[in-house]
Amino acid sequence: LSDLIHGGADLEGNLGIGHTRWATHGEPNDINAHPHVSENGRIALVHNGIIENYLEIKEHLMRQGVHFTSDTDTEVVAQLLEFHYNECHNMLEAVGRCLRRIEGSYAFGIICADYPNALIAARKDSPLIIGYGQNGNFIASDVTAVIKYTRDVVYMDDGEIAVLTADSVDVFDDELLPVEKTHSLVDWDVSAAEKGGYAHFMAKEIMEQPEAVRKTISPRIRDGRVVLDDLHLTAEYVRDLSRIYVIACGSSYHVGVVSKYSWEKLLRRPVEVVLASEFRYSDPIVGKGDLVIVISQSGETLDTMAALREAKRLGARVLSIVNVVGSTIARESDDVLYTWAGPEIAVATTKAFSTQLAVVYLIGLYCAEALGTLDEAEYDRIVSELLLIPTKLEQILDNRADIQYFASLYFNHPSIFFIGRNIDYAIGMEGSLKLKEISYI
Ligand code: F6R
Repeated sequence: LSDLIHGGADLEGNLGIGHTRWATHGEPNDINAHPHVSENGRIALVHNGIIENYLEIKEHLMRQGVHFTSDTDTEVVAQLLEFHYNECHNMLEAVGRCLRRIEGSYAFGIICADYPNALIAARKDSPLIIGYGQNGNFIASDVTAVIKYTRDVVYMDDGEIAVLTADSVDVFDDELLPVEKTHSLVDWDVSAAEKGGYAHFMAKEIMEQPEAVRKTISPRIRDGRVVLDDLHLTAEYVRDLSRIYVIACGSSYHVGVVSKYSWEKLLRRPVEVVLASEFRYSDPIVGKGDLVIVISQSGETLDTMAALREAKRLGARVLSIVNVVGSTIARESDDVLYTWAGPEIAVATTKAFSTQLAVVYLIGLYCAEALGTLDEAEYDRIVSELLLIPTKLEQILDNRADIQYFASLYFNHPSIFFIGRNIDYAIGMEGSLKLKEISYI
């Protein structure tokens, strides 16, 4: 795309939308690529999420004579917007009407030829932030996209609609009534969102592991004791806990599996690990007196978010281990322990995974001390080992040529099995997931 538009030089104008995405409906080809445009070509939008009832709306619009060009759920929204705009001739009102008809998850960026200076954004269950710049305003799924231009951001909440121009931002609720938003200041370093000489973000983030783990652990160990200032669990609370649930998806779930092995050993308490996507469909036996620990790098994974809401609805207390400050999961949890990994841009998680493991051990030690389930010597030994992890990671990464040598031996194999027990079982699952994600073996 960059080549086609000469790195952006061919683009004129003062307002734009774009979206890089995985295909959710239809092949990943030019026709299914965003933005999608309504039939008269006057409304265009980009969409992150999935519209669940798109077929029903599509059929309805087709009966009204609307022609579709793509296979996507997103085009349905563009066409529905045109339909409502023709009814009410007011774009904000048309967006409001459209949102009341669609079901599913979305972050939208919408433009209309009749409003050449305005960008409309809306969100439900997909992340969306507004960046307030000196020379214009932005929307993005993630703060890393805008930190080059501004650190002043607002996190949009579900059901909200925003209207942006170059020098104004107005946010409305689902009834189109104005909403006052709180601004946040992002303190991530700009270099964190750039490749800094590495071939790709994943290579950079693998190399950042020692520093990420050091930043996550060192402020939380003082004079040989684990101190979790951000955690408000008293010793009595931990003692009276009936059950601990750990809920997450993907790699974060694998950290959850490690936490089960580690905490059951350290705390002598049953720990249940559940995939977030299963939890909310399982009529879970969770309630007051239970602690639900949610693990998520992004803090925005839909299944994990839905599980968190279900756990809270059932009365459990939710502690989350999250990397992205201000993310939905962080905001909706009772307590948050941040993994200070910095922005993770590669799709496959690496440094965030390592920091999540570190936090699991910190929580384990903290609770074991409260419960008195660990003798002093063992506590001291684990603390000293934890403090050595960043240096050990450095040593491993210094010897990455050896790892590359092994990769060169095996990369031609059509199948690879990871085998391990206990914690190595969890790490084996993670290794397997990582290899599949990256190599398609
Ligand atoms: C694996 C990976 C995914 C995520 C999963 C959960 O490399 O990136 O499997 O681990 O989607 O994401 P978070 O942790 O952001 O909730």
